[in-house]
Amino acid sequence: MASTPALLLLVLLMLFANETTAETNHTHLISIGSVISPTGTHASWASRSGLFAFGFYPHGNSYAVGIWLLNQPNHTIVWTHNRDSPSVPSNSTLRLTKEGGLLLLQGNEDPEFLTPLYYLYQAKVEVASASMLDSGNFVLYDKNFSMLWSSFHNSMPSDTILGGQNLTSGAKLVSSVSQSDHSSGHFWLRSQFDYVHLAACRVNSTCEPEDAYWAKNTYFEGYGYLQLSLSIEGSLCLQDYSSGSELECLASSKNLTDKSKNATFIYRATLDEDGNFRLYAHQFKGNTSSGVQTLWKAVEGDKCQVPLCGLNSYCFIKSDKAMCQCYPGFIRIKSGGNDTRFLDCEQNHSKDNCESIEDPTTMYNMTSLKDIYWGGSPYLVVPMEMETCKKSCQKDCDCRAVLYKSSICEKYKLPLLYGRSSKDASTTAFLKMPSGIVLSPTSNETALSSTKPSLFVDDKRSLIMILSFTLGWISFFGLVFVLYIFIIYRRQVHRYAILSASENLGFVEECSLRSFSFDELVKSTGGFAEEIGRGSFGAVYRGTIGDSNRMVAVRRLEKFVDEGEREFQAEITAIARTHHKNLVKLIGFCIDGSRKLLVFEYLSNGSLADLLFKSHMTMAWKERLKIALDVARGVLYLHEECDVRIIHCNIKPQNILMDEMWTAKISDFGFARLLKPSYSRMKKMDDKRSRYLAPEWQKDESVSVKADVYSFGVVLLEIACRRSSIDMN
Ligand SMILES: *[C@@H]1O[C@H](CO)[C@@H](O)[C@H](O)[C@H]1NC(C)=O
Ligand SMILES: *[C@@H]1O[C@H](CO)[C@@H](O)[C@H](O)[C@H]1NC(C)=O
Ligand SMILES: *[C@@H]1O[C@H](CO)[C@@H](O)[C@H](O)[C@H]1NC(C)=O
Ligand SMILES: *[C@@H]1O[C@H](CO)[C@@H](O)[C@H](O)[C@H]1NC(C)=O
Ligand SMILES: *[C@@H]1O[C@H](CO)[C@@H](O)[C@H](O)[C@H]1NC(C)=O
Ligand SMILES: *[C@@H]1O[C@H](CO)[C@@H](O)[C@H](O)[C@H]1NC(C)=O
Ligand SMILES: *[C@@H]1O[C@H](CO)[C@@H](O)[C@H](O)[C@H]1NC(C)=O
Ligand SMILES: *[C@@H]1O[C@H](CO)[C@@H](O)[C@H](O)[C@H]1NC(C)=O
Ligand SMILES: *[C@@H]1O[C@H](CO)[C@@H](O)[C@H](O)[C@H]1NC(C)=O
Ligand SMILES: *[C@@H]1O[C@H](CO)[C@@H](O)[C@H](O)[C@H]1NC(C)=O
Ligand SMILES: *[C@@H]1O[C@H](CO)[C@@H](O)[C@H](O)[C@H]1NC(C)=O
Ligand SMILES: *[C@@H]1O[C@H](CO)[C@@H](O)[C@H](O)[C@H]1NC(C)=O
Repeated sequence: MASTPALLLLVLLMLFANETTAETNHTHLISIGSVISPTGTHASWASRSGLFAFGFYPHGNSYAVGIWLLNQPNHTIVWTHNRDSPSVPSNSTLRLTKEGGLLLLQGNEDPEFLTPLYYLYQAKVEVASASMLDSGNFVLYDKNFSMLWSSFHNSMPSDTILGGQNLTSGAKLVSSVSQSDHSSGHFWLRSQFDYVHLAACRVNSTCEPEDAYWAKNTYFEGYGYLQLSLSIEGSLCLQDYSSGSELECLASSKNLTDKSKNATFIYRATLDEDGNFRLYAHQFKGNTSSGVQTLWKAVEGDKCQVPLCGLNSYCFIKSDKAMCQCYPGFIRIKSGGNDTRFLDCEQNHSKDNCESIEDPTTMYNMTSLKDIYWGGSPYLVVPMEMETCKKSCQKDCDCRAVLYKSSICEKYKLPLLYGRSSKDASTTAFLKMPSGIVLSPTSNETALSSTKPSLFVDDKRSLIMILSFTLGWISFFGLVFVLYIFIIYRRQVHRYAILSASENLGFVEECSLRSFSFDELVKSTGGFAEEIGRGSFGAVYRGTIGDSNRMVAVRRLEKFVDEGEREFQAEITAIARTHHKNLVKLIGFCIDGSRKLLVFEYLSNGSLADLLFKSHMTMAWKERLKIALDVARGVLYLHEECDVRIIHCNIKPQNILMDEMWTAKISDFGFARLLKPSYSRMKKMDDKRSRYLAPEWQKDESVSVKADVYSFGVVLLEIACRRSSIDMN
């Protein structure tokens, strides 16, 4: 009996001990009312070790607010407030206040009307103190020393994470412009949700695999939420956000050379201004620095492996420096100084009228470029001979350049991205250049008239008349014939059609759907923690939305991420317009780049498949009949009664869900068209599904509503027998 209070005490002690040892040291607190200013006695608040400071640092002719690592030849800035316009005047102050948190006063502003630097979302809680911790984390505490705000957790990192800090999924590091200018530079390191989990790419690119110059893919069971974490001990690892378990480590402090005993190490991972992501170890003895080591870097090899050059230019190395140069036929957009990095180039001739010329081949020569290749994605990839490849680019007005690689012809439009020279390039690059015969940079009118082949000369005028007369009649009869065939066709054939939304259809208003942000859905599903099913389109997670904590099912669509946004919206519109008690209702959606998610009502009693094949619940004939009728009503509605006919194409017990009243509802409808290109692939892969597929569909013939009737028949049989129609064993 006596053990209970003892246990309690132990737990309390552990909690307390945890709190104090972890990060809080109550002896080094910043109290309410403390003020710092760039020119005053205190320009910063230092950590107890004296290695980190938060406050004002010189920035050009004025000052900026940030956190830096002390005692370097020059301070290492690890975080800057408002980095893209950081300058504050020399008479600014930073003040810790009870209600507002940290207030940055610039000049003679009235503190009453200031937004705090650190906006406290729990507005009712008062700040009691703050502290610059030895880890480099600046924190605000309440009375009970629980953290209200911390720079590690609540602020966007700039280009650096420190030991103890995480880069969560969806967040990114942005490189600085230079070592002295900490505003946003040219590179991103993004922790992503999708296939590529961690990717480095040029700023403003989509950071898709073809854009990334460095990427880390970690196979990750269950599509969770991933983060990059740098531990206090210097291990840089990818972690599962929800469990905190390590998936893969990129680097660790094990490789430290010269690890002297009494030294303190501070680890920092920075996306440097040259685009490389590096892990540094700063060594200190007491508070004096004794050197920096680079423990790891993401991109090994030459500097041009990072896409240092801009549009239509390529990177090369000259005396160990990376330089950029425009492709032949291109000129610099802005004439810069000697640093040619990030050079953007444009065509040196005005836009041609390629489209209006009958034979554009004569307008261009194909110039081959030695040892050069580029990245980005070609708009066309076809296997063909090299000569044919060149010819076909000359003819094609969209084509500006080709990469020819082991009998594959890749055609590119402008701008050409991520160009670089490389001795070991296994590709041959050709650039389309104006041949000079027809195109002059200034006048396109004369160019046009000189190229237009004068095929029809005067003495052939009568021939033209005859030709046009005959052709006219032929086309007329042709048109009549086509119309006739069309009418016959219309009468006889059921067309497979799901009407897509018309151009001017207000998408969101029309179907009163809610548009969610990706972050909202991450929050509502607890980081996609609970997977409740997996359909042909991707996994389904449980979540809650709104103040009433309404349960929802969030479906992440994975199969057709490449599909255009408009087609996707058209399909959602079609789904959203359905209203029937035997169909699962769509509540909202989220389109965030390639991430597409749908939010459906949550049905608590699982799927018909669970009920039929897994549960041991007895099912009276009456109940089974009701389920069969429910499904039939849903199918009838999809086929006959809703505005736009929808063929489900995938009716099976797994797609029939049961609500709390045991009403059967059909889910997964309306996507057949989006999925069409992957039909055949899916058919082969998904044996289990094919037993519900109508035979004509399996033979790739055209699909009609009858396909659903077939599938329904199989389901009906399974409801009656309560066993699977085909047992694979
Ligand atoms: C807190 O700081 C004091 C001196 O400033 C030091 O003696 C003490 O060990 C520190 N406590 C912890 C838990 O780090
Ligand atoms: C470094 O430490 C010494 C004593 O340990 C102290 O006198 C000095 O002020 C410290 N310097 C800084 C910049 O914190
Ligand atoms: C430190 O800063 C000065 C002036 O801003 C600069 O000239 C010098 O190169 C910097 N040193 C290092 C090591 O970055
Ligand atoms: C701060 O400096 C600016 C000019 O740099 C001046 O206009 C302003 O009056 C100053 N404010 C205070 C409170 O001194
Ligand atoms: C501090 O802790 C006490 C008791 O644990 C609690 O009653 C109080 O609400 C807490 N205050 C804050 C600001 O969290
Ligand atoms: C990226 O996009 C933003 C917003 O469109 C723009 O302000 C910025 O200049 C772009 N950066 C680069 C490097 O192109
Ligand atoms: C970083 O992630 C780990 C594991 O999920 C967690 O324990 C830790 O609190 C996180 N750190 C911060 C500053 O959020
Ligand atoms: C550590 O060093 C060893 C040998 O020097 C090397 O093989 C290994 O890749 C290094 N590890 C890291 C994470 O840099
Ligand atoms: C480490 O510190 C101890 C005492 O503080 C000292 O005797 C020893 O020489 C130091 N070792 C090194 C490598 O500096
Ligand atoms: C550019 O480089 C040339 C020689 O390579 C040098 O003479 C010139 O001063 C440099 N210009 C600048 C602005 O650095
Ligand atoms: C393009 O090719 C034609 C003949 O093939 C040649 O006469 C012309 O000089 C070439 N133009 C350029 C710019 O290379
Ligand atoms: C090229 O032609 C277009 C229309 O034919 C005209 O608007 C444009 O000004 C022309 N450009 C030049 C450089 O002559």
